[in-house]
Amino acid sequence: MATTSRAGVWLRWASVHGIPRTFLSIRARRGEPLARLILGRGDREALIEEIRAAGPLLRTPVVWVSADYEVCRTVLRDNDFGVADPNETGLPDALLGLVRRVDPALPNPVEPPAMLMTDPPQHTEFRRLVARSFAPKSIAALDTRIGDLTAELLDDLDRRPEVDLISDYAALLPAAVISEVLGVPASERTRILGWGNTVAALLDIGIAWRPFRAAIDDLRDVDSYLGEHFGRLRADGGDGTPFSKLALDGSLSGRELTSNAALLIGAGIETTVNLIGNGIAALLGHPDQLALLRDDPGLWPSAVEEILRYDSPVQMTARTAHCDKEIAGSTIPKGAVVVLLLGGANRDPQVFERPDVFDVTRPNARDHLAFATGIHVCLGAALARIEGTTALRELFTRYPDLHLRAPAEPRGLVNLNGYRRLPAVLTPRVSARTAGPR
Ligand code: HEM
Repeated sequence: MATTSRAGVWLRWASVHGIPRTFLSIRARRGEPLARLILGRGDREALIEEIRAAGPLLRTPVVWVSADYEVCRTVLRDNDFGVADPNETGLPDALLGLVRRVDPALPNPVEPPAMLMTDPPQHTEFRRLVARSFAPKSIAALDTRIGDLTAELLDDLDRRPEVDLISDYAALLPAAVISEVLGVPASERTRILGWGNTVAALLDIGIAWRPFRAAIDDLRDVDSYLGEHFGRLRADGGDGTPFSKLALDGSLSGRELTSNAALLIGAGIETTVNLIGNGIAALLGHPDQLALLRDDPGLWPSAVEEILRYDSPVQMTARTAHCDKEIAGSTIPKGAVVVLLLGGANRDPQVFERPDVFDVTRPNARDHLAFATGIHVCLGAALARIEGTTALRELFTRYPDLHLRAPAEPRGLVNLNGYRRLPAVLTPRVSARTAGPR
């Protein structure tokens, strides 16, 4: 029988996060770099370099780990590796059975049937259906909307010389875009954004009870909101968007539909906020690179690739070996989990010359693994690239003298890497309302 009781939710937290957290804390105290990295204890880049220095593939007491570009790429592209289910924590079967009965219908983006956490053939089918919302025609329509939405957001900023560029700008664009993909009205964007924010914590390993509980509470709201939303779309005959057609044609069950919609909220908002926020911070920290972009605006798309490489919004993912696999001279046994440090791979000196240098003209920046690769390669990559390029280019064009008025505040998550606040002063070059002939 299913349970949604607080005790049940706590049991689930304890098994998926609490026990691993205790174990990781012990390993972190002993100085193990992966445990310290996962718990956010210590300088991220230094810990990644420590892992890289130990070899292309490192075995730790529980998992394997790699910051090596070739190993990460190989594992992600090899279908002998599948997704790593966070519920597979080695619990005894009886306890696992109990845990699985907690909130079984919750649209958790890091659990099946969200496509991110499914293997073929189920993954192939879900991805094929959801991908219609990201087909070239849909992206072209969204591209135009992204331009309009960005202009509206900048017009709002014009009215306030002191802003927080995360909450007043970077977060609003992706929340508006995902709302449009899902057919959610503009009045609901703030709720969507709030959900994206809390649910983002679930992408970390060993999170504390409070953020876990907040995320689960929000997922219940997401579930009931999306259930009603898709019900309304069905009753009204849809709004013509690919996602509403999906809601109408019944090719996904109710649970599959809400889980994959919740995945778009979880995967599409916070990641893109980080791309925009990390881009603002990187460019303000490198005025010479900003000057290059001012001289040649055609460099913006390549600058976005470099931001994705240099300060990757998603730092890691994981895969499970379906059979014994020989990788980089080691045998990864069947069932073993490999943690792939995407941010580390993107700083691999064997692939990226002087990897710690931020260079918007880097010729091979686009080879980064910030969107992963293989069958789970980011479904929203084209959209994220457009959002990142438009948001950054338009911001720096309108406010060439933009500067921070207080230090940037990091987000405090481990896997989703970005800023919570970017307090800035804006001085418009030309105000949209005062420009033009008088
Ligand atoms: C800069 C922004 C973004 C970054 C860095 C990013 C990164 C990633 C990464 C690394 C993965 C693969 C994870 C893995 O293999 O374990 C992924 C998958 C995914 N992303 Fe993104 N993402 C971004 C934006 C978006 C957007 C805007 C959307 C949707 C509108 C989106 C939707 C998805 C979906 C649905 C998947 C799962 C694909 C699958 O399992 O086949 N992402 N993303």
